Amino acid sequence: LQKMRSKQVQNIVAAVALFLSLLMIYSAFKGWSTRSAPVTARSTSAATTAAAAADQFPMINTSSLGQPYYVYPKARTNTSVAVTIVIVVTVGTKMEAFATAMNSIECYAALHGYTVSVEYDNKFTECEVHEDKFFRRHCHTHKLMQNQIKEDDWALFIDGDVGVVNPKRLIDEYLEDGYEIYLFDRFYNWEYAALSYLVKNNARGRGWVEEFSKFEFKLPESFHGTDNGALHPFLMNYLVPETRDPKTRSRTAALCLSLWNRSKGFDDLFGMQACTRMVIGEREHFPEHKVKIYQKGNGWAHDLWIFHSHWATDDFMMHSLKEENFVQFPSDEAGQKHCRDSLLNLVGNGACHVVFPVLKKLNVEKCKAGTEGWLMEGRLQIDNETRKKVYDKMAYRILKQQMELVGKTAAKIQDV
Ligand SMILES: *[C@@H]1O[C@H](CO)[C@@H](O)[C@H](O)[C@H]1NC(C)=O
Ligand SMILES: *[C@@H]1O[C@H](CO)[C@@H](O)[C@H](O)[C@H]1NC(C)=O
Ligand SMILES: *[C@@H]1O[C@H](CO)[C@@H](O)[C@H](O)[C@H]1NC(C)=O
Ligand SMILES: *[C@@H]1O[C@H](CO)[C@@H](O)[C@H](O)[C@H]1NC(C)=O
Repeated sequence: LQKMRSKQVQNIVAAVALFLSLLMIYSAFKGWSTRSAPVTARSTSAATTAAAAADQFPMINTSSLGQPYYVYPKARTNTSVAVTIVIVVTVGTKMEAFATAMNSIECYAALHGYTVSVEYDNKFTECEVHEDKFFRRHCHTHKLMQNQIKEDDWALFIDGDVGVVNPKRLIDEYLEDGYEIYLFDRFYNWEYAALSYLVKNNARGRGWVEEFSKFEFKLPESFHGTDNGALHPFLMNYLVPETRDPKTRSRTAALCLSLWNRSKGFDDLFGMQACTRMVIGEREHFPEHKVKIYQKGNGWAHDLWIFHSHWATDDFMMHSLKEENFVQFPSDEAGQKHCRDSLLNLVGNGACHVVFPVLKKLNVEKCKAGTEGWLMEGRLQIDNETRKKVYDKMAYRILKQQMELVGKTAAKIQDV
């Protein structure tokens, strides 16, 4: 019964999460945050200037949309970085639900000489203690690292609905000397993303994944947000170790945990996340823990629908590529222009969610031989500069919402 109930709760959470994320993105596009006072000109930081610049629409010639074209990526020449791409699928889910995404991953890996591990989540008996499928996947990843992946190689965990849109980019590019655990900021809000991480298969990397998986057993009986919610208190504990102990943690850290404990919905959950980020600090590098968290837009994947399926050569992977979500790119010029205009003006438009820009199924044998061409939807391509402008504009809108939510948590501070 307990299991059934938690499954039901999970389904409800998933449904609400989907609805809310759509709502959030919608409100972001609608400029929801502009209802409250904008950052005043008096705080003349570089950020304000950049925010103002980002508020001007990027110039683009919409009548110069490209056409589909082939890209012939070359295999990487230096294969000294060994990576296993780990995909763990809930038993019972049909792999076909992710066919397009996985095809791109398999081709990409075959080309560059990375390993792909796609498995159901019932392989390791040690992971059966996990009732939450999201944490079970991290347990599975930990077991793979222990049993199958070579010491000091790398594991790139990704959701099943992550695919490659730019085969020329390398996982290797994301590695930096002295860092062993890599994450990135989610795009649609101020979350750290649990949908993917890149870790070195050594004691530190394995320890990180194991500890994260075990956070399931520390979930409060509240609207906790499963693994993506838990990633925040977990990272707070990991990066600011004194927050582990009630005796040494700051009042702010105690507030974050108490918010999680009392969470009744997304406002509370997102407030908790914003709170933990305040304790952790908005940094990319945490050298003492060998952790790097890529800022919004600098990570290796984001939800394809956020920018109405547009991509640039600076992009690498995309998330949210479920077969059931795919739509056809509008065939008429007006529809196509509408897609582009929605991107540039950051307004809602479901018509171009989600068009995967790799148009043809890839032949993995040919990928391995380095002879496969990727047929790209050139009409959805934007240049790097436009990408940066659009990303900045969106990121500043979300930053405003994050700051506002931090303010709102003041009402949740309990008098002692
Ligand atoms: C837009 O692109 C078209 C086709 O490339 C070109 O003919 C036109 O002059 C461009 N317009 C502007 C304003 O750059
Ligand atoms: C290959 O890459 C590794 C890791 O980045 C580097 O240490 C090594 O020097 C490279 N080898 C060559 C031949 O460039
Ligand atoms: C969370 O709530 C439980 C009971 O509801 C309480 O025992 C625990 O101390 C709370 N933890 C925090 C961090 O507030
Ligand atoms: C965009 O960036 C990518 C990688 O950062 C680079 O390879 C490419 O040449 C750039 N494209 C343009 C048009 O500047």
